[in-house]
Amino acid sequence: MKTPKYKAAAPIEMPDRQWPARTLAVSPAWCSVDLRDGNQALPNPMDPGQKLEYFQMLCRIGFKEIEAGFPSASQDDFDFFRRLIDGKHIPDDVFIMGLTQCRPHLIDRTFEAFKGVKKGIVHAYIATSDLHMKQVFGTDQKGTLRAAVESTRRIRALADTMPESDIRYEFSPEEFTDTDQSFCLEMCKAVYAAWGKATPEKPMILNLPATVERRPPNHYADMIEWFINNFPHRDSVKISLHAHNDQGMAVAATELALLAGGDRVEGTLFGHGERTGNVDLVTVANNLFSRGIGTGLDFSRLSEIAATVERLTGMSVYYRQPYAGEYAFTAFSGSHQDAINKGLHRLGEADKVFGMKWKVPYLHVDPADLGRSFERMIRINSQSGKGGIAWVLEQDYGIQVPKTMQPELREEVQTYSEAVGREISSEEVHTVFREKFVNPAGPFKLIGYWPRPDDKDPTFIHGEVRVSINGVEKTAVADGNGPISAFVHAVRSVVGIDFSVADYHEQAVGKGADAQALAYVPLKLEGNGMVFGVGSDSNIDQAAVRAIIAGLNRIAGKHR
Ligand code: KIV
Ligand code: ZN
Repeated sequence: MKTPKYKAAAPIEMPDRQWPARTLAVSPAWCSVDLRDGNQALPNPMDPGQKLEYFQMLCRIGFKEIEAGFPSASQDDFDFFRRLIDGKHIPDDVFIMGLTQCRPHLIDRTFEAFKGVKKGIVHAYIATSDLHMKQVFGTDQKGTLRAAVESTRRIRALADTMPESDIRYEFSPEEFTDTDQSFCLEMCKAVYAAWGKATPEKPMILNLPATVERRPPNHYADMIEWFINNFPHRDSVKISLHAHNDQGMAVAATELALLAGGDRVEGTLFGHGERTGNVDLVTVANNLFSRGIGTGLDFSRLSEIAATVERLTGMSVYYRQPYAGEYAFTAFSGSHQDAINKGLHRLGEADKVFGMKWKVPYLHVDPADLGRSFERMIRINSQSGKGGIAWVLEQDYGIQVPKTMQPELREEVQTYSEAVGREISSEEVHTVFREKFVNPAGPFKLIGYWPRPDDKDPTFIHGEVRVSINGVEKTAVADGNGPISAFVHAVRSVVGIDFSVADYHEQAVGKGADAQALAYVPLKLEGNGMVFGVGSDSNIDQAAVRAIIAGLNRIAGKHR
């Protein structure tokens, strides 16, 4: 029989697993590894100035634990530690963490980098999987365990030489999810004992990484729960999660492992990191935030954070990235736009109806909480619905297109969008509105309209209209029981189009002396449907007659 190329990892035998029935209620502690796991995976790693700017941004977001590098691995990382400490760039409540392998000279160098630090975490790791031990290092469980224990003793001894510093210890069995569970447990117990000073107040961190995502998220959760059930000193350790994203499920794996009892999450902003990256902390933290859990991380200016990360790392944030992506709060489909529009208008009822302040179709969080605005939320393309287009004009320009006019507007916007062959901005929608409805090209131009109330009955109007038709000036007079009807009678006699005016809408745009009236006037054609024109003027009657001329030009355009 042929040996298969791939084989699924064996599931974990745990009939009494508890995590599937749990709900997350509190936030884990967060540790950013952007400046180590993230930075080491950049095509162009950050220079010291860029790392400092990134570090300061992480502090502003609210990270209290930041892995600042691998100080024994490169002079640059070593110098960066010195710069952070000597330059007093580390806030008093922030721990900087430095990675080291379990090798004596690298541990010694790490402690040199940490000299004078107020709060530091020495993070030692060693690969514990058979794959690594056999194929990479030519060692075995005994040798690996010895190296981990001896290294931990050395770290303890060096930490004891720095009583003025709060030095904590993190240990990572690399490839935890590909490691024999019992061996990993035995190793972590031995390392815990070798550290020998973990307390509930100053816990040791056991970081259990999915170094490569080889298993589905439920396996990770099972392994974490199993480990926690079997590790004897639960009160004096923090169980830390460190998921990579090789199968695209790092966020799910982290969330399930939190249900399984994880206390702390290591990851990076937007998931930078080796290969497909580390778990994206922006997504995990905002997922919790969207369920009402305070995370202690401030992403209220997320676009600014994304722009800074893009500038410093040279890597762009994917446009469909949850929360931060350009399209994260953009609805393309017309029915979605319409639903969002309705939901936002009825947001005030959400508390009463759903018992929560935010419940809007297609938007699981309020973009404003992330510093993102509604204005650019809806983009228009040829699939957009009439409701969405009207919403854009209302939100961005205060223009309230009447419902009966919306299908006609949609047709014009769709024609434009198809002609340019792409999605269009709200500015372009506004241009279509102005060019097609307010100032459409056509043969008719209003020179002036002078309505005069009758001497005896001021509600009765005598109107004089002067229009240019294809450049030829014409004058017409007529009467009516209002300025608009007088205008219609007069203009109908010279334009050669049989139309009447149905109910029309008016709206004021702007305030005070600068206020403009907008009139949306439907012109009914004998047996030929209805065409809208829009007029704008400081005087409402003049706005309405301009709208009629605009409508007549649209009719002439359609029949040309
Ligand atoms: O992915 C990993 O296993 C690591 C370790 C160094 C914790 O980055
Ligand atoms: Zn990693």
